[in-house]
Amino acid sequence: MSTCSRVFCCIVTAIASPKEPAKCLTGYMTDVQSWVDEYGALTVDDNELDRSIDLSTNTNVVLLLQKNLQSMQRSNVNIRYLSLARCNLERVPPIFDHQDLNGSPLRHTVEYLTLYGNNFKDISSPGVQYDIMLNATDIVETNIEFAKFGEKSLWSTGFQYTHFSVLRELDLRACSIEIINGLIFNGMPNLEALYLGENNIKFIHDKAFIGLGNLIHLDLSMNKAYDKNGGQTSVVLESADLFARMTKLRSLDLSFTELGRNVRVLTGLGKNFQRLSLCRSKVRNVPEKALSKTSVKYLDLSGNYGILDNTNILAGLEDTLEVLYANEIGFENFHYFYNFRKLEVLKLVNNEVMVITARVVASLTSLKILDLERNRFASWIAPIFSTMPHLRFLSLKDNNLNLISEEMLDDIATISFVSLSGNHVVCNCHSRELIDLAARNDNEQIQTAIELSTQTTEDTLKAANYHIADSEFNRIIELRVNISKLCDKEKCKKNYEDRNHKFLIIDYDLYSYACFHEYKNTYMSFISVKTCIDWQRGLPKNYLNNGANMLLLLILPTILLPLLLIIFICRRRFGYFFITMRNSATLSLISKTDINEDGKIYTYDVFVSYCNDDRAWMLDYLLPHLETECSVSVCLHERDFQVGLSILENIVSCMDRSRTIMLVLSKQFLRSQWCQFEMHLAQHRLLETRREDLLLVLLEEIPRGLRPTTLHYLMLTKTYIVWPKATSEQAVFWKRLKKSLVVQQRNKNSTLA
Ligand SMILES: *[C@@H]1O[C@H](CO)[C@@H](O)[C@H](O)[C@H]1NC(C)=O
Ligand SMILES: *[C@@H]1O[C@H](CO)[C@@H](O)[C@H](O)[C@H]1NC(C)=O
Repeated sequence: MSTCSRVFCCIVTAIASPKEPAKCLTGYMTDVQSWVDEYGALTVDDNELDRSIDLSTNTNVVLLLQKNLQSMQRSNVNIRYLSLARCNLERVPPIFDHQDLNGSPLRHTVEYLTLYGNNFKDISSPGVQYDIMLNATDIVETNIEFAKFGEKSLWSTGFQYTHFSVLRELDLRACSIEIINGLIFNGMPNLEALYLGENNIKFIHDKAFIGLGNLIHLDLSMNKAYDKNGGQTSVVLESADLFARMTKLRSLDLSFTELGRNVRVLTGLGKNFQRLSLCRSKVRNVPEKALSKTSVKYLDLSGNYGILDNTNILAGLEDTLEVLYANEIGFENFHYFYNFRKLEVLKLVNNEVMVITARVVASLTSLKILDLERNRFASWIAPIFSTMPHLRFLSLKDNNLNLISEEMLDDIATISFVSLSGNHVVCNCHSRELIDLAARNDNEQIQTAIELSTQTTEDTLKAANYHIADSEFNRIIELRVNISKLCDKEKCKKNYEDRNHKFLIIDYDLYSYACFHEYKNTYMSFISVKTCIDWQRGLPKNYLNNGANMLLLLILPTILLPLLLIIFICRRRFGYFFITMRNSATLSLISKTDINEDGKIYTYDVFVSYCNDDRAWMLDYLLPHLETECSVSVCLHERDFQVGLSILENIVSCMDRSRTIMLVLSKQFLRSQWCQFEMHLAQHRLLETRREDLLLVLLEEIPRGLRPTTLHYLMLTKTYIVWPKATSEQAVFWKRLKKSLVVQQRNKNSTLA
């Protein structure tokens, strides 16, 4: 976190709670399996018990299997389930010709087979030959002769020349597998799910998946490949067509598997394909429109920093994508999601989203869950979230909201569950209102789960349809603290009877719903802030009745109509102005220590607010120039501090003792919510003390899209000067800067006189 004033951070880190690592959208294999557990033991129903053989953790597998097959209890049944998990096997044993009492060999009866946790590491492998081949494949696709490679990897011999006529699911998790040879699975034409997760696969042969014409789900998650020096590397896929041959493939899990430059393989996914996890796969440079031929519904891109920056891999998924997880990818451009009509869940935790436009949001007609935790979204005025007809869950936790306004409350009114915790807001009566309304709603509503589109299709392979979004968000709702007690049932009902807001708060606690009280100079919980009095809630209702005066009634339309028209045209600007005015009025009401600055003698000419990242510029350029060359006295809170005051008090005091306030702005400044808070504070202070003297210095151009509303408003109304990159133009900059400082000084003097 880049910071302006460290003090804020300390306060907030103390509040923030440790976070558990995020899960990937596709979950873990056993989230959906009913036949096998996490460690490879069978978990079949009682009525299937005599059709299953579980030899997990035994060592003498072949003998035990023989005994088991000959056991009389099994005289009328065939074996469907077989577990050889954690049996210390170094190869797949040649047991599939063993027959049961009916004379059927296992290869004709076994439908579910697990070899979880054996040791299929290739002891005989790393040789010169192998190195050459790896080096070669690193550069271009080459055709390594299958025979040669086959000699190197021996674990799969038990599968060779065996035809499994009914095998549907094969579990090879955690077997230390390093190499997937060609044609290993060639004898498994009916295989639907293949689990190869948690291995050490570093090479997958061109023909590895030949024969898997019916495969629906392929799990290659959590693979760790190591090079010969023991460093972690990405898996090498010999062919970019690896997946293209499996035309029925619907689901591919590459979570936590480093895919590196093999990412071109994704372009082979076809029309039936629906579910993909690239969660933390270190994917870079995904080809343009890589997934446009597919019908992806569930997608996880989390942790691949910058994956959406250069290429639009979501292109073509507008009519299919239903759930997207894209956490921690440095994402900022919400326009990407324009027209994703089917999208129901959008999770964008820990990104850089600052701007969300109503146009994009209004096109998300199916969106039910929007999770924007830890982004850079600021307080807003124009309706955004209320334009989404189905939105039920909204998290703006840990964003840059710097106040809760009435407009914001109205905009989230119909959403069922909201989180606004962890924002650095200034106390005002609407923050109290947020809690009161939520408490009232808790008293009067019954909480209901969020239902997403049905995940089950007619076929039975659950693994290919499963995602965790449903359970993840409904669990948050389930564990929610009911805050009905925070507001007395009758009182709240009466006070807020005209308010139709429906939202409940999902993550209430005293410390994360806290605001900064400017005068008391402390944090306080929303619930201890004063409630709004009538006039603070929008325009007074009985305005006309009060001055029941014929003249007024006549004059009003002539003045009011043009005025309303102007307000309508500039509604955004006015809206902001009203919020600011109201907010500062509230603050002045709360605290009577209002300072009247008329006639005040200032100790300093200018107070400079800057971000730590811009400190060097300030010390190297600004300070010498102003102080030595222009004889302008500068107040820096870090230098000119008064002993015994907190840093924040020092900032306020510095502001009060300076004639002009100068904000040094950069993109970095806007990235830090603490700097933004200082900007907000400066603006409040100016309004309260009825001063005009704010000067903006932009160290770089800040595009309109990146400007928060506060800044946009300030740039419209205040002087701002841009720092030129070229040294030759810097003289002009200093001239302009000096001029604006002197002009403000003169203005002040003339009003005093
Ligand atoms: C493989 O490549 C590395 C560096 O690219 C090289 O040092 C090494 O000698 C090569 N191995 C063989 C067997 O050619
Ligand atoms: C909260 O608790 C109250 C009292 O225990 C209960 O009546 C109310 O239904 C609960 N609210 C929700 C939304 O479940």
